[in-house]
Amino acid sequence: MKYRDSSNSIDTPQKILKVNHAGEFGAINIYKSQLFVSKIFMRNLVPMLEDFLADEQSHMDIFWEEIKYRNGLKCKSFWLCGLGGYFMGFISALLGEKGIMACTWAVESVVVNHLENQLIYLAEKQDIQAYEAVSSILEDEKNHRDTGFNNNGAGNFLYQPLRCIISGFTEIIIRFGMR
Ligand SMILES: [Fe+2]
Ligand SMILES: [Fe+2]
Repeated sequence: MKYRDSSNSIDTPQKILKVNHAGEFGAINIYKSQLFVSKIFMRNLVPMLEDFLADEQSHMDIFWEEIKYRNGLKCKSFWLCGLGGYFMGFISALLGEKGIMACTWAVESVVVNHLENQLIYLAEKQDIQAYEAVSSILEDEKNHRDTGFNNNGAGNFLYQPLRCIISGFTEIIIRFGMR
């Protein structure tokens, strides 16, 4: 998605920050629910999921600091992201390790794509602080995405419907938040 100037009272950089903040809350909840299931059934995945969860928590703080600095507000879809994230994480974890990897790959691919487009927009606008906030998390999100990919999260065709639902939901909620 190409990012454009906002047509309402909240400018696009603020929207990017609030949508990313809500997205991080969604990601936190994905990894929390996957951790919950993995601690019972897939202990080998726990260290990876704990690392990812810690990353997402620090990302959410980065965006919240910048939102506060601009006197901005939480995204209206903040709680929806959290609930949707928890649900997606939980269902994918019930499908086992492959489900978790497919979910990670699907979500993080959409995220990385949006972050890269946001960086193009923010560079054009010369909004250096928002640019730095977004660019500071990009490597972590690529690492999450690539971990999913390297563990066959993009492969196995049986998981294609799961990937489609997850990436579709992620895309819709980002666009909804950017309106
Ligand atoms: Fe993140
Ligand atoms: Fe992530």
